[in-house]
Amino acid sequence: MNSDPVIEVRGLCKRVTDATGELTILDGIDLTVHAGSSVAIVGASGSGKSTLLGLLAGLDSASAGSVRLLGHELTGMAEDQRAALRNGSVGFVFQSFQLMPHLSALENVALPLELQGGITTREAFARARALLERVGLGQRTGHYPKLLSGGEQQRVALARAFVTHPAVLFADEPTGSLDAATGHAVIDLMFELNRSGSGAGNGASGGATLVLVTHDVDLARRCDAVVTIEAGRRVPNALHLDRPEDVREAPEAGRV
Ligand SMILES: Nc1ncnc2c1ncn2[C@@H]1O[C@H](COP(=O)(O)OP(=O)(O)OP(=O)(O)O)[C@@H](O)[C@H]1O
Ligand SMILES: [Mg+2]
Repeated sequence: MNSDPVIEVRGLCKRVTDATGELTILDGIDLTVHAGSSVAIVGASGSGKSTLLGLLAGLDSASAGSVRLLGHELTGMAEDQRAALRNGSVGFVFQSFQLMPHLSALENVALPLELQGGITTREAFARARALLERVGLGQRTGHYPKLLSGGEQQRVALARAFVTHPAVLFADEPTGSLDAATGHAVIDLMFELNRSGSGAGNGASGGATLVLVTHDVDLARRCDAVVTIEAGRRVPNALHLDRPEDVREAPEAGRV
């Protein structure tokens, strides 16, 4: 692992206004993620984890503060510029999967490669098929999302995020809909990407950086660092990775 920051966040705030007034979702988050590392974002439901992940990945824009992703300041960047930065460098697994309903599993996974260009459709489909086999869906490649179970959709979403070998993989509850055995297989695949790297010349040296939102204590403990969010603020971690007994004994561990 080298120590170049892949993500640098300073004073990040997200506020939204609705009929009931202004709501502060994130309030002054500071965070540094180094190249090739793995970070787990943990916290109670509604604490702001998904909102934070979307801001880090450039899917959403901040109300205040700064986010630097792969050396680029996202704040003030237009959506098309953020999309260009994400394309090929960032993989994102949404909590709600967000597969394209009118595309088969295979077409969903091949799509990012085709959007990226520089590859034949045949090769894109071959790579997509190989990844679907890795996540245990080799027999479901022709299925449309609505014919797949929640856990199967989650695995298609993971394969879609991996297929371009992104420099940074963001995943929101990547094992949330999976049984223990399938969850372990998916976690192993993510950490394999983290170790082996992209080799895709997309700005990453070494392995892919992982930024994961999770309620899974085992997954959080496999990460190099844990970031705990409570009501939109970063707080000291309740989960001590180097002291497994704390995971069992800390009363706060149930929130993770
Ligand atoms: N666009 C929005 N407008 C209004 N409120 C929002 C918006 N986006 C998020 N929120 C609110 O911000 C809070 C944080 O939402 P977020 O989805 O980030 O939580 P989370 O930590 O990911 O929760 P979970 O673990 O349940 O997925 C929630 O109370 C949510 O209702
Ligand atoms: Mg969430």
